[in-house]
Amino acid sequence: MTDPVRIAVTGAAGQIGYALLFRIASGAMLGKDQPIELKLLEIPPAMDALRGVVMEVEDCAFPLVRNVVTTDQPEVAFEGADVAMLVGSRPRGPGMERKDLLEANGAIFTQQGKALNDHAAKHVKVLVVGNPANTNCLIAQNNAPDLDPANFTAMTKLDHNRAIAQLARQVGGVVEDIDGLAIWGNHSSTMFPDLIGATVKGKPALENVSQSWYEDEYIPSIQQRGAAIIAARGSSSAASAANAAVEHVREWIAGSDAVTSMGIRSSGQYGIEEGVIFSYPVTVSNGAYNVAENRELNDFARSKIETTEVELIKERDAVAHLL
Ligand code: NAD
Ligand code: LMR
Repeated sequence: MTDPVRIAVTGAAGQIGYALLFRIASGAMLGKDQPIELKLLEIPPAMDALRGVVMEVEDCAFPLVRNVVTTDQPEVAFEGADVAMLVGSRPRGPGMERKDLLEANGAIFTQQGKALNDHAAKHVKVLVVGNPANTNCLIAQNNAPDLDPANFTAMTKLDHNRAIAQLARQVGGVVEDIDGLAIWGNHSSTMFPDLIGATVKGKPALENVSQSWYEDEYIPSIQQRGAAIIAARGSSSAASAANAAVEHVREWIAGSDAVTSMGIRSSGQYGIEEGVIFSYPVTVSNGAYNVAENRELNDFARSKIETTEVELIKERDAVAHLL
């Protein structure tokens, strides 16, 4: 057995936290041979609830869990962290866009970016889940000047999984039939689920579905899936979000030959504004993600990608004082 990996989780007593911690602790994220230390951050009013969650983690007697730290201080939670999963922040309610949360949540990521900078391991892998995830990630990354910007990612894996599942259902297939699908841009209602580069059982996905279904039903359905869940459940997705977070970190560490989607700092790939946190198709090897090159993009795709890029630039400009 190797040394425990230190995993910081913020908002650990929240809905996603409750679905996430037990998956991590069971070994679903880092494997059945990797011991872990959990470092759980909450705000003072939620510390009692967090204590209850930790009692439940204990009561599972997970063999991989070597230690659990609870704290309301980001500096303590992030001390020596190898992985930091930034979930803690306000969720949106019905009728809101995720960017409406920027004001409430932006300050959290300023403080946490600084604390990561000063306390986390230099190799820390940061996943931002709290919304608006891309721009919160931008804020955290900009407040951590001593860390490699490539260490900061935002979660679009949930959108990726939604897009795969809905395509599989439409073609009467199974998720394993789908390859090459990707989410471009912002985790918002402008994201672009790209079927142009996707295949179903090795054949172009767009030969299996009509263009009108793709444009008029599929894309809006993926873009609005989070809102549909809020409307149905009364609160935002939690178990599926936790599952996506587990998969995002697992693939980032263990690798993925298959194309997946991650919000990463743009270095200008595909002409996207440098510096914004943009979801790209990526593959992962040796703990590093690589943007898939030479994807075919027609005029339709380019205009969708431009729309989501423009939104991210506007969000960046709105938080310029936090960068
Ligand atoms: P929740 O309200 O149930 O839990 C959030 C938790 O964060 C609460 O326990 C709260 O006390 C804690 N918190 C608030 N401020 C904090 C801070 N400064 N430090 C540490 N903890 C803090 O919400 P949830 O359903 O768990 O969702 C959390 C976030 O994840 C929301 O912003 C939500 O919109 C977002 N989300 C993102 C995705 C995605 O795909 N990227 C998917 C689902 C939800
Ligand atoms: C989701 O996509 O389910 C989350 O981002 C929650 C939301 O506000 O839609």
